[in-house]
Amino acid sequence: MKAVQFTSFGGPEVLHVVDVEAPHPGPGEILVRVAGAGVNQLDAKIRSGAMPTGKPAPFPLGTGLDAAGTVIGIGPGVDDVAVGDIVFGTGRSTMAEQAILTQWARVPAGVDPVEAGGWGVATETAGRLLSELGLVEGTLLLSGASGGVGSALIQFAVARGLTVVGTASAKNHDYLARLGAIPLSYGDGLVDRVSEVAPQGIDGALDLSGAGVIPDLIALVGDPAQVISIADFTAPSHGARVSTGVTRTTEPRDGFAEAVALPHFALAVERRFALADIADAHRHAENGHTVGKLVVTP
Ligand SMILES: NC(=O)c1ccc[n+]([C@@H]2O[C@H](COP(=O)([O-])OP(=O)(O)OC[C@H]3O[C@@H](n4cnc5c(N)ncnc54)[C@H](OP(=O)(O)O)[C@@H]3O)[C@@H](O)[C@H]2O)c1
Repeated sequence: MKAVQFTSFGGPEVLHVVDVEAPHPGPGEILVRVAGAGVNQLDAKIRSGAMPTGKPAPFPLGTGLDAAGTVIGIGPGVDDVAVGDIVFGTGRSTMAEQAILTQWARVPAGVDPVEAGGWGVATETAGRLLSELGLVEGTLLLSGASGGVGSALIQFAVARGLTVVGTASAKNHDYLARLGAIPLSYGDGLVDRVSEVAPQGIDGALDLSGAGVIPDLIALVGDPAQVISIADFTAPSHGARVSTGVTRTTEPRDGFAEAVALPHFALAVERRFALADIADAHRHAENGHTVGKLVVTP
């Protein structure tokens, strides 16, 4: 089967499509024929070598953290899916014709499996962040709301009854409003703009872009404990929290279930890429201005 691999850290040009043996699902894992695989900024950070593990990298490495497709293999101990089911979720080396998923949920009827290929990381992260913030009412501020995580978060938070203020480039304000958020521009003057549209105050804030806004978010919320970042590792030095997949306090399937339970949940796919165009997909993702998701279709 065809899969994307790289044999050294570097720019997008290190990515190549190669022929490899299909993987076998281990205990608690499934194998899917991939319909779509989400491109995440983390893929590019791993490929560049910016996420050192402290051990020598076991090259060749695959890339891709989430996917959707048809179940074609089931590992020992898995009893909640059958061959032929169409699922989405998170796993490893998902930029391939076949990939292992370690966490999954069924793709809801009527949802394109290609689109659902981009749901795994975004819905896991969105569900985790809302759970860790613990906001049950009030107004939530999202910094960098038009990307994959932000698009999922707006829908989850609105469904929970929260008022959502989200920042994005002006060209994406209509997109944010359609999802249910009050759109604002990021950049200088953020605190004043937010205070104007949310005179009731901000009860919690999530930094989704790592653009150096933690002090502004704390000023708006008043309580650093109610500010969480997924992209700015200086947040704790201000008293705010960082959330990662490693420190998570929730199950990935919680976020998947939240998406499946929302009748009209969707993550717009800004662009689809063929497997052979994986380098372009990484370039686009690492620009940091994706609207919704980027998806690769093997
Ligand atoms: N820690 C974790 O568990 C975890 C999990 C998932 C993702 N992440 C990280 O979280 C970040 C977001 O992920 P994503 O998949 O949502 O990314 P994405 O799809 O690329 O979206 C990036 C968002 O950031 C906005 N943005 C760009 N420049 C900005 C600025 N200067 N100020 C405020 N917002 C700005 C973009 O808005 P415009 O396009 O409108 O400018 C867009 O809404 C990435 O760094 C990713 O690696 C971390």
